[in-house]
Amino acid sequence: MKIQPQLGIYIHWPYCARICPYCDFNVYKNRQIDAPRWRAALTRELEYWAAHTKGRKLTSLYFGGGTPSLAPLSVIEGVTDACERLWGFEDKPEITIESNPTDAEQERFETFAKAGVNRLSLGVQSLRDDALKFLGRDHNAMSARRAIETAQRVFDRVTFDLIYARPRQSIDEWRRELGEALATGATHLSLYQLTIEPGTAFSKAVERGAWAPVSDDDCADFYDLAQQMTAAAGLAAYEVSNHAAPGDQSRHNLIYWRYADYIGAGPGAHGRLTLDDRRIATETVERPDAYLQAVEETGTGAQTQDTLDENAQLTERLAMGLRLVEGIAFKKDDTFFEDDTRASRLQECIEDGLLIFDGARLCASDQGRRTLNAVLGYLLT
Ligand SMILES: C[S@@+](CC[C@H](N)C(=O)[O-])C[C@H]1O[C@@H](n2cnc3c(N)ncnc32)[C@H](O)[C@@H]1O
Ligand code: SF4
Repeated sequence: MKIQPQLGIYIHWPYCARICPYCDFNVYKNRQIDAPRWRAALTRELEYWAAHTKGRKLTSLYFGGGTPSLAPLSVIEGVTDACERLWGFEDKPEITIESNPTDAEQERFETFAKAGVNRLSLGVQSLRDDALKFLGRDHNAMSARRAIETAQRVFDRVTFDLIYARPRQSIDEWRRELGEALATGATHLSLYQLTIEPGTAFSKAVERGAWAPVSDDDCADFYDLAQQMTAAAGLAAYEVSNHAAPGDQSRHNLIYWRYADYIGAGPGAHGRLTLDDRRIATETVERPDAYLQAVEETGTGAQTQDTLDENAQLTERLAMGLRLVEGIAFKKDDTFFEDDTRASRLQECIEDGLLIFDGARLCASDQGRRTLNAVLGYLLT
C-alpha cells in the first residue's frame, strides 16, 4: 500500500483591524462578520476535501491570515470540531493560531487554548515603539512583551515574528533587539527581512522618495548577525527565515517545505494534495464575499484544481525544499538530470559552493541560502 504523506490544514482568515503599509497578503479591513455563515462555509469546504482524503489523519491545523485571533470563537471552534469529526488528529497534533499582540487579543488566549489551539504565533514585528509606529502597527513594545509573556504562560509552544532591515535600523540596534527577543526564552522565531511589495503603501513611499530601503549589503549583514545570534542561543535556522530549538520546528510549515499534503480553506488559500497518484494544486477565490458564495453554491471555494506534471512538481519541490537546512532527498537518476541545461547549472552551483550534493540529499550551503531566490531563478529557468 502506498504510504500517504502527512496532511495539514491551512485556514485563511482574511480580516484585519487595519492594513499594515508593508503587507500584500490577501487581507481586508474588518467589517461586520456573519459568524454562522463563515462557520458553515468553512465546515462545508472541509467536508468537500474530507470526501477526497478519506481514512487520513491530520498532522496539523493552522489558522493564518489576516488576523485569525480576531475571528469569532464560534468559527475557530467550528473548524476544530469539523477537523476532529471529519479526519481526526494524529497523536500530538500541532494546532496554531496567528495573533497580533494587542491587549484585546491577549484576553482571548485562554479561550483559544480551550478550543484546542496548542501553539501561538505572535506578530510582534519589533520590540521598539518607533519601529512599530513606522510599520503602522496598533500595538507598542510594552504590549508586545506582555503578549509574549501571557502566551508563554498559556501555551506550551509560542513563536513570534520580527521584521528587520528596516530603514534607520543600525546593526547594533538589531543586535540589541534580537538579543532581547532571545532573552524572552523563545524556542521558535520567524525573522523576516522587510520586503517592499509592489502595490503596498510602502512601495508608494519608496517610489516618491520618502525613504530608501536598506541596501543589499546591509541586509546581508543583518541576516548574518541573525544567523550567528540565534545559533549561539540554541535556536539555529532550520529554514531561511525560521529558527527553533531542537524539536520545536513548525510541523505545519515543514509540511509545505517538505512538499507533503495540505488543504487550503478560506479566501485565497492554496493547497497541494496527492490524490490517486495525481499531485493537485488548489487555490480558492480571493475575495471573501465571492468565496462564501462559491462554497455555498458548489461546496468548495477552490476555483482552480490543477494537476501538476512531473516538471512542475520538481520545480516546486526544489523551490520549497532548498529553503530548509536539511535540503531535499535527491538522486543522480532524478528526472531533474534529464534536462542537460539544468544538470549543468546544478553542477555550476555546486562548484560555486552554493549547493551541496552528497548523492542522497541536495542542500543549499549557508551562502546559497542567503541568495536562494537568485540560485533558484538560475537553476529552474
Ligand atoms: C500575514 S502576517 C500574519 C500575522 C499577523 N496578522 C500580524 O501581522 O501580526 C505574517 C507575517 O508576515 C510578515 N510580513 C508580512 N509582510 C511582510 C513584508 N513586506 N516584509 C517582511 N515581513 C512581512 C510579518 O512578520 C507577519 O507577522
Ligand atoms: S501584517 Fe498582519 S495585521 Fe498587518 S495587514 Fe498583514 S495580515 Fe493584517
